[in-house]
Amino acid sequence: MPFAFTRHESLSPTQQHQLLEIELLPEQIRHVGDIHGGLHTLTARPAADRQGFALLKDDIPRGFFVLKRRSLLPDWARDHAIVTTTLHALMIDRRFQGLGLGKQCLRALPELTQALWPDTEQLMLAVETGNHSARQLYLALGWQELPERNGDQPGFERLMLLTL
Ligand SMILES: CC(C)(COP(=O)(O)OP(=O)(O)OC[C@H]1O[C@@H](n2cnc3c(N)ncnc32)[C@H](O)[C@@H]1OP(=O)(O)O)[C@@H](O)C(=O)NCCC(=O)NCCS
Repeated sequence: MPFAFTRHESLSPTQQHQLLEIELLPEQIRHVGDIHGGLHTLTARPAADRQGFALLKDDIPRGFFVLKRRSLLPDWARDHAIVTTTLHALMIDRRFQGLGLGKQCLRALPELTQALWPDTEQLMLAVETGNHSARQLYLALGWQELPERNGDQPGFERLMLLTL
């Protein structure tokens, strides 16, 4: 299923509206929030340290994620001596899940990140412990799960890392 990445600020007004129509399943919203929460992360400043992307299928946004760096890195990504970019709010519209979009997006992410912020040496993310399908997906694509911090309980997060 071919798709294109586009920066959030490059979306047309129609696409901005379509982006808001991205839906997740109720249990997925419990894990990651919804598109409104994802878009809220784009209010963080400085704008130079975060970038939102939409995944376009036939020119319509069907997926979304945010990359952050430097001053906007979460605490869990700051302890690392190497240059880190973090991935947030990855979501594929529920009507387009299971078609390979998520996998293709993650496969393309290293190249996209290095084109955006060439000094990036590793990607990191936090995934809810109970979000098994997302954890499996990251592991299958070469991400490494870091040792647990808060116990392997629902509601807690596991950190994952991909060296570029
Ligand atoms: C996780 C997510 C991004 C994956 O996107 P996707 O486009 O559905 O993923 P793909 O179609 O590329 O499938 C990747 C793997 O996910 C699993 N998967 C995807 N959809 C599934 C479904 N409906 N049922 C069961 N497993 C599924 C499969 O194991 C699949 O691997 P396979 O192709 O080897 O079988 C998407 O499900 C999503 O938006 N989830 C809600 C938000 C979320 O959890 N984000 C992660 C935050 S850390």
